[in-house]
Amino acid sequence: MSRPMEMTSQDSITCAPVEEAKMADGDSIPVCLDDVEAIALKKMSKNAYDHYRSGADDQQTLGDNRAAFKRYRLRPMFLRQDVSTRDLATTIQGVPVDFPVGIAPTAVQRMAHPDGEVATARAAASVRSCMIFSTYATSRMEAVAADTPDGLRWFQLYVFKNQKQTEDLIRRAEQSGYRALVLTIDCYHSGTKRADIRNKFTLPKHLRTENLSDDGKPYDGVCGLGFAPLLWSDVKKLKSFTKLPVVVKGVLTGEDAVRAVESGVDGIMVSNHGGRQLDGVPASIDVLSEVVQAVQGRCEVYLDGGVRSGTDVLKALALGARAVFIGRPALYGLAYNGEAGVKLVLQMLRDELSLAMALAGCANIGDIQRSLVVHESRYLQPKL
Ligand SMILES: Cc1cc2nc3c(=O)[nH]c(=O)nc-3n(C[C@H](O)[C@H](O)[C@H](O)COP(=O)(O)O)c2cc1C
Repeated sequence: MSRPMEMTSQDSITCAPVEEAKMADGDSIPVCLDDVEAIALKKMSKNAYDHYRSGADDQQTLGDNRAAFKRYRLRPMFLRQDVSTRDLATTIQGVPVDFPVGIAPTAVQRMAHPDGEVATARAAASVRSCMIFSTYATSRMEAVAADTPDGLRWFQLYVFKNQKQTEDLIRRAEQSGYRALVLTIDCYHSGTKRADIRNKFTLPKHLRTENLSDDGKPYDGVCGLGFAPLLWSDVKKLKSFTKLPVVVKGVLTGEDAVRAVESGVDGIMVSNHGGRQLDGVPASIDVLSEVVQAVQGRCEVYLDGGVRSGTDVLKALALGARAVFIGRPALYGLAYNGEAGVKLVLQMLRDELSLAMALAGCANIGDIQRSLVVHESRYLQPKL
């Protein structure tokens, strides 16, 4: 299945419901990320789709991650400059990327497609984006690195009670060319995913978490087993243990952002784990300004959670994110069409961002200023 035509940055982008977008042979044509999800849903088992899609408890935060983006409004500035071509290139941790959207770490990608993490890494590399590789990957990190030697890959780390296990993961990531460590801080107990309990979720028998020694339990959708208690002092220790940049993932307050900076981190990912951990925490986009203000430019700030369109990306960049990352959309791209599906998802976001920038009067990433975005409350009781 392929797109009907190559989308250029000049095309208008509308998100038709998937039912309305049928090719003559009856295949659906995805024109936006929601369409990709709708097709992926049909291709995956209930066990897999529910595991990927679910949030914790009542899924309040899961829903709010998306809804919150809609509470921000864009303020375009016209005629200031020629925006007929746009440059989306930027850097993250000093490394060039073609556009500021990367792939967040997600566990067990071979459940979505047999090529799993290999396909995701190839797709990211093919459009010069960044892939964050999960500790709970179902492919060996060395194999993925060897397959995409030029791709930008970061390694997501959990700290295990078994210190040797943790140290081995770090050294292997360093040796196989991962360019940063992403320390996830919000998952030392696992949020309750009710659908997984109802489905009695298990990883299909032929899959394993390939990078962990077998002294732990097999992956059953519950992270936190075997993890060491983690303190900010451990983040400092990690910084002295590795020369790689360290990004902490899961920061949701200005206070923790300051602690992260004081612990010497190189980056902060504003994230609520896609609404899968503490239900009731704010949407990532609602926290971003607080974190950016607390950090005061001392390290790069990224965001994940609920990013599904180019205007979502534009809003996050305007509110101070250096780049954003997508979790579930990459899994749905994988399920839809392997490497090509993930690439399509990234290209859609790139093209939508490019068009949104043109419509907002921005020719390059540096033109995306804070003044481009306001909260909707400004318009709800307008002063006449
Ligand atoms: C199925 C699934 C598995 C995940 N596995 C991990 C993981 O292994 N490590 C991690 O740091 N975050 C993990 N996450 C969280 C993502 O990195 C990311 O924070 C989240 O998916 C972003 O929200 P989005 O899915 O709305 O884009 C996972 C998320 C999902 C949906």
